[in-house]
Amino acid sequence: MADLNRELAAALPLLQKAVFSQPTEGAEYQKVTLRPVTIKGKDYFQMEGFRDNKAFHRNLSREETLALADESLAGRYRQVLLMSGDGAAQYVLRRDGSYKKSGKSAVPRPGGEAAYTHDREKRYLLAEGENIPALVDLGVFTPDLRIVKAKYDKYRQINRFVELIDDAFSSVEPGKLTVLDFGCGKSYLTFILYYYFAVKRGFDVEMIGYDLKEDVVGHCNAVAEKYGYSTLHFETADVSKDKLLDKPIDLLVTLHACDTATDYALDFAVRHGAKYIFSVPCCQHEINASISKGGDLDALLRYGVVKERVSALLTDSIRAGILEDMGYTVDLMEFVDLAHSPKNLMIRAEKRGAPREKNIPRFRELAERYGFRQTLLELCDRKEQ
Ligand SMILES: C[S@@+](CC[C@H](N)C(=O)[O-])C[C@H]1O[C@@H](n2cnc3c(N)ncnc32)[C@H](O)[C@@H]1O
Repeated sequence: MADLNRELAAALPLLQKAVFSQPTEGAEYQKVTLRPVTIKGKDYFQMEGFRDNKAFHRNLSREETLALADESLAGRYRQVLLMSGDGAAQYVLRRDGSYKKSGKSAVPRPGGEAAYTHDREKRYLLAEGENIPALVDLGVFTPDLRIVKAKYDKYRQINRFVELIDDAFSSVEPGKLTVLDFGCGKSYLTFILYYYFAVKRGFDVEMIGYDLKEDVVGHCNAVAEKYGYSTLHFETADVSKDKLLDKPIDLLVTLHACDTATDYALDFAVRHGAKYIFSVPCCQHEINASISKGGDLDALLRYGVVKERVSALLTDSIRAGILEDMGYTVDLMEFVDLAHSPKNLMIRAEKRGAPREKNIPRFRELAERYGFRQTLLELCDRKEQ
């Protein structure tokens, strides 16, 4: 016979997740999950209860968690799973109200031991055990909140993305924040960022994801509503021509927004005074399709594969140089290992100074000489007319 409250108290210091399922009649929720979270630098246990297809959240101290377990969880759920650094244990409720412990095993981790060590470094931000339930609906997590194997690379990218965001925002006092994601697609990143800002850090965040695909946008809105993410919205829009949010923004992100969608995103960010831009471009076809021989760089244009890579790098160098001219401090970095994604270059920019024109005239001259088109450069020209 196991004393569930005592077992939970022992598991709390290394708790990854506790799941209370198969409710009895007296249970308030159909299912309850407890996970550790860090909010504004303080550690809590987040209680998530599901009722009528809706999720309810409370962030609790250790004492409040134990009180909740004592008053409303123990004895009210037939199945309990406790996962901690010590392993996983299952408990089954018996007729007499006591629990039978049905085994303890090491907690398996996706990607083996190497991934475990790697994850452990990242645990502070998005540990597997504290993951975001909305991602089950998006197909990134299994119903028991494990990463779907096929999505592991995506998950790793997003984790890294959020770490870089955290580098910029960890010392920022939570307040109002407007965040846009251009080309959000299935919105794994958007949901995780919302979770990071709104749930973990306590920002009063307004977040919008834009995408061309109406069905995907509809699904994302339904998921946001289901989890009570009331200030997270998705809109069907072509970011190159549709009317978008018309007010200053704080942060703009893109993750693999196709081809020139990235240029429209950067242009929008600059025009709306974004303090931060985190943009991972994708399929930079435009220069590759339009460049022709014109001078010293001709040797780089002879072979298709080299031309393609040079064009992609030239595209992102021009984007970075334009942002510098717009008063941003810019880094170009490999944000994940090349082995995890060939599209691994991130443009990270922070607005720090006044605009100046140093790089743009040189890019114009280069574009004219080599006959290529580059949307962000053309958008700068358009503005000046
Ligand atoms: C490769 S997906 C990336 C999706 C998501 N950011 C991610 O990383 O999972 C690119 C997305 O950009 C969207 N997209 C491409 N051009 C767009 C445009 N002009 N306006 C809005 N969305 C666009 C596509 O519909 C697609 O969902």
